[in-house]
Amino acid sequence: MNKKISAVYPGSFDPPTNGHLDIVNKSSCLFSKIIVAVTDNINKKYTFSLHKRVDLLQKSTKHLKNIRVVSFSGLLADYLGKINSFILIRGLRALSDFEYEFQLALMNRKLNKRIETIFLIPDQSYAFLSSSMVKEVAMLGGDTADFVPSCVEEELKKHFANLSKFHCEK
Ligand code: COA
Repeated sequence: MNKKISAVYPGSFDPPTNGHLDIVNKSSCLFSKIIVAVTDNINKKYTFSLHKRVDLLQKSTKHLKNIRVVSFSGLLADYLGKINSFILIRGLRALSDFEYEFQLALMNRKLNKRIETIFLIPDQSYAFLSSSMVKEVAMLGGDTADFVPSCVEEELKKHFANLSKFHCEK
């Protein structure tokens, strides 16, 4: 573990999955402190509010002492400058992630040349996971227990039960 350096793991986490938590676990062993920074990607529509996503991540990482979950808005590069932390962690699940991640890393470095992005590869069992896929499974009544922590599973059930109640009442 690097005793002095903190790193930031940014994402939208809608919702957090076991794949995200695998990256959090791995990075918490590599750095003295990990800031999980939750934000809204302006190109996406979200199922869970920013507040709910932060709450779910806090609950799912409470066993790890060196993790802080926060939210931010605006440019990630500006947020990193504000907290004076310039190492970014991103997960690379497959080659298909690479192009977007490469672009994001270079854009962030262009915006602030101190920013370095470190890519971690999740365990193979999580390589196929994505938040949208998990939501689709939950929406269609499938079991998500293997994909997300229990607090997220509960929240997914609640969300999609309310949604189907609403559709039935209409
Ligand atoms: N396990 C499971 N799923 C994973 C994963 C892992 N280890 N790593 C990534 N994913 C999935 C997520 O579930 C998500 O799936 P979805 O598309 O089905 O929802 C997808 O990969 C990407 O999500 P995420 O990693 O949260 O990234 P994002 O593209 O939503 O947002 C930000 C990336 C937040 C870092 C970026 O939008 C950002 O920096 N925004 C702030 C504004 C800014 O500075 N923009 C950059 C300069 S232009």
